[in-house]
Amino acid sequence: MVTGASSGIGRAIAERLGAEGAYVVLSGREQSAMEESAARIVASGGKAEIVVADVRDANAIQGLVNAAVGAVGQLDVFVNNAGVSFLSPILASDVESWRLMLETNVLALLVGCQTAVRAMRVTGNRGHIVNISSAAARDPNSGVYGATKHAVNVISNSLRLELLEDPIQVTTIMPGLVATNIGRNVDVAVLEGLVLMSGLEAEVRAGERLPDEVLERAQAALHDIMIKADDVADAVMYALSRPPSVHVAEIVVRPNKDFAL
Ligand SMILES: NC(=O)c1ccc[n+]([C@@H]2O[C@H](COP(=O)([O-])OP(=O)(O)OC[C@H]3O[C@@H](n4cnc5c(N)ncnc54)[C@H](OP(=O)(O)O)[C@@H]3O)[C@@H](O)[C@H]2O)c1
Repeated sequence: MVTGASSGIGRAIAERLGAEGAYVVLSGREQSAMEESAARIVASGGKAEIVVADVRDANAIQGLVNAAVGAVGQLDVFVNNAGVSFLSPILASDVESWRLMLETNVLALLVGCQTAVRAMRVTGNRGHIVNISSAAARDPNSGVYGATKHAVNVISNSLRLELLEDPIQVTTIMPGLVATNIGRNVDVAVLEGLVLMSGLEAEVRAGERLPDEVLERAQAALHDIMIKADDVADAVMYALSRPPSVHVAEIVVRPNKDFAL
């Protein structure tokens, strides 16, 4: 089960899990994007199902878990990936952007963890919760977005201790800058710079996604400050493929150099 599977890191994780033979339940709000991913998973010999849901709705998260359990009889992996970012200074931003970040990045992740653990406890299987945090969680001055990711780290570590007697592991992945559309709410001038770097023509509109080809070309040009979504999927697969006696609690996966927006 992967939330935020319609784009970026979640899509890369979902497709990697599918290619490795998992039955993947992809969730996000944009059906068409997930249909393309599901088709790629099926073409690579895997199985996939789409559930359109807004993770801010706790009942919808229960629905996602039910879909996974209904399909294969148990939930093995729940990836809390859906997230949003508004990077304005605190004094220049508004309550709506804070609410969106707190509800998506923190509350939905909490509900996801609790719902997944309850389902895993019913079937008693070995389970794994993967929480997508951020390198911003290591930065004490990373604003409200960073504060939500600090919360993710505290929640993950606390949950790991609550689960010591269960066969359920919790891994926190902290990516540095990744070439995805998470930055679609940053300054348009920054995005125009990315498009220029890609050498492709694309119109930049505040809050809207850039085409995948633009992100891929920009990442290739800026690889020392920006990694690929697939690099994060590699980190997730590493954590999931360890033997049960090894618990990978945290992974920081970042480009060689830092880039400050
Ligand atoms: N890119 C980076 O540099 C970076 C670095 C560190 C951490 N991260 C974290 O990585 C995670 C994935 O971000 P990304 O970079 O892949 O960005 P992205 O391309 O913008 O993808 C975000 C995903 O979250 C989903 N989402 C957002 N709000 C949702 C909601 N209310 N309900 C359901 N799905 C929702 C989006 O789906 P729809 O909009 O289609 O519904 C989309 O699939 C986030 O938690 C982010 O904080 C990213």
